[in-house]
This record gives sequence, structure tokens and C-alpha cells, in this order.
Amino acid sequence: MSFILAPSILSADCLHLEREIKLINQSEADWLHVDIMDGVFVPNITFGFPVLESIVKVSDKPLDVHLMIVEPQKFILQFRDLGVYMLNVHYEACLHLHSVVSKIKAAGMKAAVTLNPHTPVESLEDIIQDLDMVLIMSVNPGFSGQSFIPQSINKISRLKEMILRKGSNTLIEVDGGINIETGKQVLEAGADVLVAGNFIFNSDNLKEAIHKMKQILTTKL
Ligand code: DX5
Ligand code: ZN
Repeated sequence: MSFILAPSILSADCLHLEREIKLINQSEADWLHVDIMDGVFVPNITFGFPVLESIVKVSDKPLDVHLMIVEPQKFILQFRDLGVYMLNVHYEACLHLHSVVSKIKAAGMKAAVTLNPHTPVESLEDIIQDLDMVLIMSVNPGFSGQSFIPQSINKISRLKEMILRKGSNTLIEVDGGINIETGKQVLEAGADVLVAGNFIFNSDNLKEAIHKMKQILTTKL
């Protein structure tokens, strides 16, 4: 069984973003995860379009953009124009989720819906077939370097069961507090995509940390 690994650029050294992204390009990582925060939906602010534009110029990996912003529907076409591969919107930020998802797909991107730790996976029962991916937040969104919330494992199992029951191809991504131990647990529960920030960027050797994580399923804990 293989899985997709998406390092989160939020934990990178922002003074040397180009260098960090080039290292990701040379690594076994599959996607690049980009966290966009507005200081309203979450208690933190990261980067916007000018920085994303620069990231796009350097990254060879498909961009997995995680929007932690209110009214994400306002910016769909701008993300499409930048060449974003997967656009993640928060369930809690979308009053008309079906409409937002349809617009993302009509714009030519893959559509993902993100669930905060308190939002039950059952909220997606009637839209799951329309989603390319569900992102389970295993920390409260806003910051890297937080501890994994153990209840996320049960959510992943329930979501996997729902996806199989509906015969959907929806991927499950998990974001927050992922390291070798928690990464292995979430993959065993049914995850397809791991996001990792702190574990990768605060290691001594980024490419080695990515390699180690890609071996996770054969690693003995
Ligand atoms: C948190 C972000 C995450 C974060 C993950 O709100 O969505 O993508 O960068 O960082 P770690 O892996 O350090 O928890
Ligand atoms: Zn994220």
C-alpha cells in the first residue's frame, strides 16, 4: 500500500523558501501543502497570493492548498489561475458547501473539504461522492507543531467506512501532529495522504526525514 506525502511549507524557513522548496522538489514528497490563513477563521495569518505566486514558480510538486479563510468561494478562480492542483475549503467556512465544491471542480481543480476536530464526518454523508478528498484536521487549525488529537483515528475509520459504503474514490488526508508514530496509526485507520510540517522541516535533514516517512508502513515502532 502506498500513500501520498505532502510536506507543509508553513514550517519551512521563510527566509529561504526557494531553497526549501527546491529540496522538496528533489525529495520523495508527492505534493506540497500550502496553508493560507486569514486571521479571522483561525487565530493566525500566513501568506497570500504574492507569496503563493513565488512558490508556484519554484515548486515541481502539485500544490495542495489548505484555505483557513472565511468566504473561500471569492478566490476560487485566482487559485485556479495560479495552477493549484487541490483546493481545500473548510466545512465550517462554507454556508453553501455543495455550490463551492461544484465551482472548484468547474474551475478545473480537485476539490477537498476540511473538517475541524469537532465536526463529525457524518456531516459529509450527502456530499462525499462529489469530493476528491476529505482533510481531517488532527489539531485545531492555525499553527504547526501541535500534538495529534487521538480521537482523529476514530474519525478516519468512520470516514473510510462511509467512503467504501458509498463506493466513492474520495481520498482521506490527515493534517496536524503527524510523525512516524501518528502517521502509521492514521494510515492503518484508512488515510491516503499525510501532511507533515514540524516533523519534516525541523529535522536535521529534510530529504532524509521525507524518506523515513515514506518508509513508515514498514517501520517497526
Ligand atoms: C495547521 C496546518 C498544518 C500544519 C501542520 O493549521 O493546517 O498544515 O502546518 O504542521 P505540523 O505537522 O507541525 O502539525
Ligand atoms: Zn494544513
